[in-house]
Amino acid sequence: MNALEINNVSKIYGNGKVALQDISLTVPEGSFFALLGPNGAGKSTLINILADTVNASSGNVSLLGHDLFLERAWCKRRMGVVPQEIAFDPFFSPREILKFSRGMYGEKADDHWVDELLERLELAEHAHKVTRQLSGGMRRRLLVAQALVHRPKLVILDEPTAGVDVELRKRLWDFMRELNAAGTTILLTTHYLEEAEELCDQVAIIDQGKLITSCPMKTLMGDVASSSLCLSYDEPLQLSDEDTIVLAAFSPRVHDNQLCLTLNKQGTHSDFDAVYQAAKQQLGAPVDVNIRQEDLEDVFLRLTGDPS
Ligand SMILES: Nc1ncnc2c1ncn2[C@@H]1O[C@H](COP(=O)(O)OP(=O)(O)OP(=O)(O)O)[C@@H](O)[C@H]1O
Ligand SMILES: [Mg+2]
Repeated sequence: MNALEINNVSKIYGNGKVALQDISLTVPEGSFFALLGPNGAGKSTLINILADTVNASSGNVSLLGHDLFLERAWCKRRMGVVPQEIAFDPFFSPREILKFSRGMYGEKADDHWVDELLERLELAEHAHKVTRQLSGGMRRRLLVAQALVHRPKLVILDEPTAGVDVELRKRLWDFMRELNAAGTTILLTTHYLEEAEELCDQVAIIDQGKLITSCPMKTLMGDVASSSLCLSYDEPLQLSDEDTIVLAAFSPRVHDNQLCLTLNKQGTHSDFDAVYQAAKQQLGAPVDVNIRQEDLEDVFLRLTGDPS
């Protein structure tokens, strides 16, 4: 069973902006899924459609085999969404907000779980303050607690760690990892690609409203990520027209004293040799050689062509 099946979802906003174009992707049950894309790609639009705060223009979605648009009440009890925008009633405290939220989902009060959430999200000492006294990072953690209060099967987090400092971010991810290990499916967006690579076992990349890829993280990093051979010289390099033509097949990139050339996929030995010999013939022997494997950020930038 899949936690989510998103089929041909498109969104055209009232002003004519096409935010999503025919997006289809599957979130397997139990996965830790990264939905990635540059600013304005359409991530929040998709999440807001799942959360029922934006209407899709077309397409359908099923959640654990149930039609999300037709069986909203059933689905809402099984999903928790952390929106990107923060909005709370400023006069309630975190504890009150969590209690009300459980009630809203039709769940009985569970003080023990509310206490655990306050503790794990490091809000316990602020549990009685009114929310307008909380800092931005605290409010975001309260949003996370609110999304978890009814113990959903699927948790969707839109930039949960924006404005959360590095130590807290680590602890928040540890908590998400525990929930995932206990069987909760997690779908998140983040601009921290290093964290996404480490945490997530599935990844989708969208850009300008279109799906670029959706696959297991291992497949992306194994089949799509390539490695580069980087050669250092003792003087800044300037490639001649001839160098550029001869090395064109290896996508040469020059940074000061260094020339980086792309190897095929994992960089087999024969690739390494061919690339090295070609570079040596054109530019002479380098003073240093190393191989750099593309990480998720490199792959993301290459696929989206966007430095954001
Ligand atoms: N209510 C709206 N009306 C019109 N256009 C909108 C609306 N909301 C979002 N957009 C546009 O739709 C596109 C997708 O926006 P969205 O917020 O989904 O992107 P995102 O991937 O979440 O970006 P970010 O990483 O900055 O959060 C953007 O061009 C945005 O300006
Ligand atoms: Mg967004």
